[in-house]
Amino acid sequence: MNHDEPTRRAGLDWGRAQAFLTAEREVYRQRNPRSAALAAQANEHLLFGVPLHWMKDWGTPFALHVDHAHAATVQDVDGHSLVDFCLGDTGAMFGHAPAPVAAALQRQATRGYTTMLATEDAAAVGSLLSERFGLPWWQFAMSATDANRYIVRWIRAATGRKKILVFNGCYHGTIEDVFVDLVDGRPVQRESLLGQVHDLLEHTAVVEFNHLPALEAALAGGDVACVLAEPVMTNIGMVLPEPGYWDAAQAIIHRHGTLLVMDETHTISTGPGGYARAHGISPDALVLGKPVGGGVPCAVYGMSDALAARAVKAKQDAPPGHSGIGTTLTGNMLAMAAMRAALSEVMTPAAYEHMLALAGRLADGIRQVISRHQLPWCVTQVGARVEFQFCPNPPRTGSEADRILDGELEHLVHLGLLNRGVMITPFHNMMLICPQTTESDVGLLLGALDEVLAAITP
Ligand SMILES: Cc1ncc(COP(=O)(O)O)c(C=O)c1O
Repeated sequence: MNHDEPTRRAGLDWGRAQAFLTAEREVYRQRNPRSAALAAQANEHLLFGVPLHWMKDWGTPFALHVDHAHAATVQDVDGHSLVDFCLGDTGAMFGHAPAPVAAALQRQATRGYTTMLATEDAAAVGSLLSERFGLPWWQFAMSATDANRYIVRWIRAATGRKKILVFNGCYHGTIEDVFVDLVDGRPVQRESLLGQVHDLLEHTAVVEFNHLPALEAALAGGDVACVLAEPVMTNIGMVLPEPGYWDAAQAIIHRHGTLLVMDETHTISTGPGGYARAHGISPDALVLGKPVGGGVPCAVYGMSDALAARAVKAKQDAPPGHSGIGTTLTGNMLAMAAMRAALSEVMTPAAYEHMLALAGRLADGIRQVISRHQLPWCVTQVGARVEFQFCPNPPRTGSEADRILDGELEHLVHLGLLNRGVMITPFHNMMLICPQTTESDVGLLLGALDEVLAAITP
């Protein structure tokens, strides 16, 4: 994919920016001796020196090590208290270790974790999900990745269609099927994918978001089982649907007998029922991972009556044996207890009220800081999720959003913020407000951003 350097670096003094980055790296090294020692130790036996290779994607000279995380704060091993706007990239969207989830885990801690059987929590979680999202039938997974993998499998089985459709620049976890991009308008398998041996183009179509004729053309063959989509793209920077897009897209999808799966893993930031519920979109299936158990590993997927009936029939018609859906620890007692607490006591309308209002103030504050430094950047908000992007107007497609990504500039900004006591997500410029984030936390972020931008502009 091409990157549009003059646009995304417009208004910056790149020489100053590079000097700033060098200085900030030195500050980080001086500030974090205990993290440095632990990183050196971890380098002896952990591949890439971290538990998961992505953890290298933070723009820090070596991995920051955490002592503990509570509410909106992460305490690192060198004793710095960092205000956390990353919140585990949504896993801790409702704050770290929310009290009701912690209490539920403590209650369950001496009562067993996994039996391959239901507890009282199972039925309760089913009705909480059904009430919240308006879909009647639910199943579970250990991650949003797996929830996506399973719903796609159910839908392929239920419809007898093999193909799925995704939007260019999407991310739905590491479900293989979706790693297909448009390059100069042509679909290609994502080159970064490791160990992929099947040709993903055979069963995955990819079109630009917000482009109805492309969607219509891709579904016209009547062979696409489902569209797997985030209602707002969030993983290539945010791309909002244009007014009326989803109404028209749903009509096209249904006209071709295709089903719509909404992955609300990130857009649950919108409100208690996610983006779809708030905007009158009626998906046939919905996926939610990350924060649904307060950060405890688990995920859920829901289905309409009609889809559930077809899924049940597919299972009944299949020969006995492995379905390809599920893992041993799925629906375990600990996860069910965590979800029950999170859904009933943490992800509440009152929590959202605070998050949305403060996110609005954060978005306004960032706009003011950007304007003070005369940068041609924009700010997008989806409920509790706020992002600034290196372009004057919000991108309309994945290709447009991709063109203005700038890893070096992002790292520089993120590191500058981190050294000033503020953490934002290492991927693009995303920030989340949790129920415990305060006005003064937002003030700290805005002040730090102001300092960073002052250091990299003329
Ligand atoms: C929209 C969306 N769906 C699914 C996932 C996968 O989540 P997990 O990595 O927890 O499986 C992600 C991860 O970022 C995501 O952004």
